[in-house]
Amino acid sequence: MAAPGSRIRRFTVAERLLHWLLAVAFVVLLYTGFLMSVPVLEGTVPRPTAKAWHIDAAVALAVGTVVILIARSRVFARTVGQLERFDDDDRRWLAQVPRRVTIGATAPPQGRFNAGQKLNTAVVAGLMVVSYITGGLLWLGERNTTYRFAGTIDVHDDVMWLLMLLVIGHLYMALINPFTRPALRGIVTGSVDRAWARRHHAKWVADEEHAAPESSPAPLTTDSRTGP
Ligand code: HEM
Repeated sequence: MAAPGSRIRRFTVAERLLHWLLAVAFVVLLYTGFLMSVPVLEGTVPRPTAKAWHIDAAVALAVGTVVILIARSRVFARTVGQLERFDDDDRRWLAQVPRRVTIGATAPPQGRFNAGQKLNTAVVAGLMVVSYITGGLLWLGERNTTYRFAGTIDVHDDVMWLLMLLVIGHLYMALINPFTRPALRGIVTGSVDRAWARRHHAKWVADEEHAAPESSPAPLTTDSRTGP
């Protein structure tokens, strides 16, 4: 059994709820999107049903996200602040990705999210916005020809492929890569192994232990060997 204090709280209930709402909705949106566009799947479910599930998932994700963000606005203000701050260590972390992949060099110390996660979150959020805009135009275009534009469906599809590639990379990091796999417990149970967190997010653990010294059982080390 783990010694007391060997774990550190990484995600609140609201953050995990938002993540899993996004993950489930994304899978439903992807599956129902494929039902309407991939020839071998077309017809396995009637198109109007697939479309209704697709729109329901998009609405549930949008409404759920707004409710969770408003209900826990203070928690998310802090999370967004951590995600959008990009410092010199983040710039070095990104610049050194090729060296870490090729020769396994040591990563610069990172905050609660590393530079790759910050970039991933920003790109996913941006692509989701484009999906909603193009999806909204497709919905409106079926009701009013003023909203029909030639490229809308192509942009909607291209964004979907980009998101899918990012999510495949994300799943590799969460489920397969041995250096980053311990993060999975954080997004499932809320806490992660403190020693792992020190290696991958040294500045964040130092901040947490400085804010609540009674929860810091061992001295801080910054020998981070962080996967990209
Ligand atoms: C079964 C599916 C999924 C698993 C197992 C999973 C796993 C995880 C884990 C372990 C983290 C926390 C990383 C950390 O400790 O910092 C995380 C964060 C995150 N996830 Fe997922 N995830 C899944 C699906 C998705 C999907 C579908 C999306 C987006 C469409 C997504 C977007 C994010 C974002 C933006 C973050 C925060 C930043 C980052 O870690 O890149 N996840 N996920």
